[in-house]
Amino acid sequence: MKIYRTKDYDDMSRRAANLISAQIVIKPDCVLGLATGSTPIGIYRRLVRQNQEGDLDFSQVTTVNLDEYRGISPDNSQSYRFFMNENLFNQVNIDKRMTYVPDGMEADSQAACRKYDEILRAVGPADLQLLGLGHNGHIGFNEPGDHFKKETHCVTLSERTIQANRRFFDSEEEVPREAYTMGIGTIMSARKVLLVVAGEDKAEIVKTAFFGPVTPQVPASILQFHPDFVLVADEAALSQCDLPLSGQL
Ligand code: F6R
Repeated sequence: MKIYRTKDYDDMSRRAANLISAQIVIKPDCVLGLATGSTPIGIYRRLVRQNQEGDLDFSQVTTVNLDEYRGISPDNSQSYRFFMNENLFNQVNIDKRMTYVPDGMEADSQAACRKYDEILRAVGPADLQLLGLGHNGHIGFNEPGDHFKKETHCVTLSERTIQANRRFFDSEEEVPREAYTMGIGTIMSARKVLLVVAGEDKAEIVKTAFFGPVTPQVPASILQFHPDFVLVADEAALSQCDLPLSGQL
C-alpha cells in the first residue's frame, strides 16, 4: 500500500487526477473503473479541464462504473449514470458507447448482475480502479457482511448508507433501498486501485480499514492485500493513523 498524504480536498483531487491522467497518457485505450459520490467530483473537474485544454484524450478510453441504484432510470438526476454524464462523460471527448454502468432498470436483478459481469469480462480488468470509502468501510456498495462477494450483486443498502444518501433526495421514502454493485473480486482484479478519501468524518474508518485486520466486516480492508493499492487521503482523513509526519509514507 502506498499512501499519499495531501493537505486538503483540493490537493487530494489534484494528486488523484494526475494519477488518472498519467494512466491515460501511458495507455490511451485503458479501462478505467470509476466511482460516484462527493469525493471524486474534484477529480472529475480536473480531468475535464485537462481534456478541454487539450492535454488529455478520452477518445479511446473505456469506463466501467462501480454501481447503480436499482429501479432508477438513467435520466433520473439521482442515478449514477446521470451523475457520470454530468460530471465527466458529457464534458470530455469520450465515446459514450464505451462507458458502462449497471442497468438499474432491468427488472430481473439476477439478469442485471449477469449482464454486467459479461460486460466486465469482455472489457477485461480495469487498468485503474478509482474508489471512494463509505463511513462503514464499504467500497462500491459492498456493505459489511460475513464474506467478500466476488461478482456483481444486488445489495440491500445498510441504514447508515441510506441515511448518508438521504441528502440527495427530497424525502427519505425516495432514497433507494437496493443497488447493484461490482463485486470485491472484480475490484481486486484491477491492475491498480486508487482510493480517495477526505475529511475528519472518515478518519476512524480509514484507520480501521487500512491499519486494522482484513475482514468482510470492513470491506475496504481487503485492499491491504492488493499488490498496487494507492491511498490518496487528506490530513484530516489520516488524522487517527499513526504515520510519520513527513517523507514517503
Ligand atoms: C459510489 C460508491 C461509494 C462511495 C462511498 C463514499 O460509486 O461506490 O462506495 O464511494 O459511499 O461516498 P462519498 O464520496 O460521497 O463520501
